Amino acid sequence: MILNVIPKPNSIEFTGGESWLDLNSIEYSLNENFSDEAYYLKIDEKGIQVVSKGEKGRYYAAKTLEQIAATGKAPHCTIYDAPAFPYRGFMIDSARHMQTIDEIKTYIEAAARYKFNIFHWHLCDDQGWRIESEKYPLLNEKGSWRDCHGFGSKNMEKYGGYYTKEEIRDVIAFCKERFIEVVPEIDMPGHVTAMVSSYPELSCRGVQIPLETTGGIFKNILCAGKEEVFDFCFGILDEVMELFPCKYIHIGGDEAPKARWCNCSACQQRIKDEKLGNVEELQGYFANRIIAYLESKGKEVLAWNESLNSGILNKNTIICDWMDRAHKSEEFANQGGRIIIEDFYHYYLDYPYGMTPLTKTYNYEPYLEKLSSTGRNGVLGVETPIWTEYIEDFDRMGYMCFPRMIAVAERGWTKSMNADYESFKVRVRNEVPVLRKMGIKPADESEWDPPFNIRFRDTWGHLKKNITPSAIKATLFPNKEED
Ligand code: ACM
Ligand code: ZN
Repeated sequence: MILNVIPKPNSIEFTGGESWLDLNSIEYSLNENFSDEAYYLKIDEKGIQVVSKGEKGRYYAAKTLEQIAATGKAPHCTIYDAPAFPYRGFMIDSARHMQTIDEIKTYIEAAARYKFNIFHWHLCDDQGWRIESEKYPLLNEKGSWRDCHGFGSKNMEKYGGYYTKEEIRDVIAFCKERFIEVVPEIDMPGHVTAMVSSYPELSCRGVQIPLETTGGIFKNILCAGKEEVFDFCFGILDEVMELFPCKYIHIGGDEAPKARWCNCSACQQRIKDEKLGNVEELQGYFANRIIAYLESKGKEVLAWNESLNSGILNKNTIICDWMDRAHKSEEFANQGGRIIIEDFYHYYLDYPYGMTPLTKTYNYEPYLEKLSSTGRNGVLGVETPIWTEYIEDFDRMGYMCFPRMIAVAERGWTKSMNADYESFKVRVRNEVPVLRKMGIKPADESEWDPPFNIRFRDTWGHLKKNITPSAIKATLFPNKEED
């Protein structure tokens, strides 16, 4: 028997019979011994009983009940449920293309339904700065607006905008009601064209450059030699921390090419003064200063896995593993570090179903191949990003995210031994009308698991030209770790 609930509860016992549910009459009780998010739910002829430690568990019981109740009569059952991982995140990139606040809230509502508890909000990048800043107004006047050649929005004179502090506070409050924390990402030292085009003195060369208008990796990163760069970073982080109460701050750290640092006298002087070996260690120094500052304010810091390349990164950093051919994240976790799994080949929702079919996302074991038992304990959870270079509108986003985002939700909550793709597919089919009612247009079922011969088409159906061997391997061997 399949209970129509996503994510699948970890323990269900059917006790025979069925009843109409009265959600207005639930008997609640507390049990101190439960973990925060765990709940016990009993449905029988007497009604509904819920036990939890407090509000969070009760909320998740309500989310389960909401789905069971939708089918009318509910089977009598006993559920004891608790998540596989404490960190269950989804990331939205609002830098490349923005979403309206209502669109963001629609995603939060959907995420809450599937028991995500982290919204990682990617709010600045080479193509735009999206947070209102009172301290650094040029971030909005210049850094939030880009020219319209390049990707998308070709009919407009300028593309851009930013979220006001009031709007951001509204989103955070909306999340709080749903037990979701909002983790802001301020990417540094790379992916900072919006910062350095607003304040050119932050780059090594100090020259005025425009915002980028295409996707890519760009050379004009923050100068690690100039003290005023650190003052600026601390200043903007102060403003961000004032806005976002979450204990986590994400400082990016990915894709930071070092060409400018190699040719910058201030950066080279810093390497000498700090007795660093090379420019990779300089990125470690940069990250560690920022992390020390954030830690002094009581925050925990997340960073993309490239931050490990320096070999000197602060060990408290939580590593977001997205693409790590050198297996440094595994080494880090095996030595006691904490990591979050966001694997590019399985969890990146902006890639076509041809490369990442639903079954591949679902069946991915969210542990890395070379993790020891210590390393496995270091996996805090999962996160699925939607990058928006090629996702300009809400309908496209719905198509790319759903139902794959729900697959990640289930793998974040449901323990591996209880996960089951066939049952998931039945349950997710039942979610399609629910999503549509919310205003999300998921991909048609015929596209979830495309046959092999159409997997190598891009999002527009054209045959992909430069498909990489590892992408082919990833498609042929969906459950194997790529190298
Ligand atoms: C990333 O996709 N550059 C984290
Ligand atoms: Zn420099």
